[in-house]
Amino acid sequence: MVKNIGVIRGDCSSPEIVAEALRVLDKIAAKYNHTFNYTEIDMGGAAIDKYGDPLPQAELDKCLASDSVLLGAVGGPKWEGMPGPKRPEKGLLRLRAGMGLYSNNRPATLWPQLADASPLKPSIVAKGIDFIVVRELTGGVYFGEHKTEEINGEKVATDIMPYSEHEIERIGRIGFETAMKRRKKLCCVDKANVLDTSRLWREVMHRLQAEYPEVQYSEMFVDNCAMQICKDPSQFDVIVTENMFGDIISDEASMITGSIGMIPSSSLGDGTRGLYEPIHGSAPDIAGQDKVNPIACILSAAMMLRYSFDMAEEADCIEAAVNAVLDKGLRTADMMSEGCTLVGCKAMGDAILAEI
Ligand code: IPM
Ligand code: MG
Repeated sequence: MVKNIGVIRGDCSSPEIVAEALRVLDKIAAKYNHTFNYTEIDMGGAAIDKYGDPLPQAELDKCLASDSVLLGAVGGPKWEGMPGPKRPEKGLLRLRAGMGLYSNNRPATLWPQLADASPLKPSIVAKGIDFIVVRELTGGVYFGEHKTEEINGEKVATDIMPYSEHEIERIGRIGFETAMKRRKKLCCVDKANVLDTSRLWREVMHRLQAEYPEVQYSEMFVDNCAMQICKDPSQFDVIVTENMFGDIISDEASMITGSIGMIPSSSLGDGTRGLYEPIHGSAPDIAGQDKVNPIACILSAAMMLRYSFDMAEEADCIEAAVNAVLDKGLRTADMMSEGCTLVGCKAMGDAILAEI
């Protein structure tokens, strides 16, 4: 197959992980007789430096012309003082909205080899961690009005959190469909004791529930969910939640699996074109030091093959290679534990390539 992949190398230590993911994709292309064409796309800090804009329309157009987009991570201290619309993160939000990617899928899966790296007690980890956070990605407070004004001699800031029924319904349906393909448990996470948006979420979810009688459906307040994720993560199969709650919960969910440096994500809309990115940030503190963990980005590339290109065997091959390397005890600094071998980003990439 021939696939055109948009590549956003990202900021700080991100280009280092994207380079490893591309080496993996090239090896897969050679092994399975595919052609992957790459189009370089600037977004985030790199685009601000070049064009003064975190996502110029021409760069978004390149994403829309691709079969899918692979991204590292954007942002860093260099751009921190910038006003809201000129921040690297704004480029990411405009990209998600511009590509219509309302559904963000973030798996929290424990790699047994990394059990020691989990901050949770062994007795909790032993029960297993295998759930998915389905995060709504183009609505809520991220996309409502943001303003700061002067009222009665002081500054007042406002961020609005809107949700409409159709936005909730389409992501709710993905929650139910995802659960149907797994252990058939879905938990809607919200703050319905306080927020109108959460109460509307529940109303819409109840309507959908009638269409999925096989799914064991539950609801949980987000504060309780944060607590339950560290108390007994084995209770979760699929969590569906709004944009900001999903942002917060997914960082927590990733960390209990051992390292945030291991967790990939997919963002999809109505078609097969997606955006694939690690859930971690651009790790500015270790940029240029060959220390960053490339695995989340490599696994994001595997997810792209699986979900957008229907290449399950190729995705399995990458995941098996990662598994083999972990079995051999190779670890980057973020997931290092006693008795393992510390390697850098490139050496980790080399080891994974050798297994493909
Ligand atoms: C994420 C990140 C982004 C988000 C930031 C960089 C805007 O934290 O993908 O989780 O909040 O969505
Ligand atoms: Mg986040």
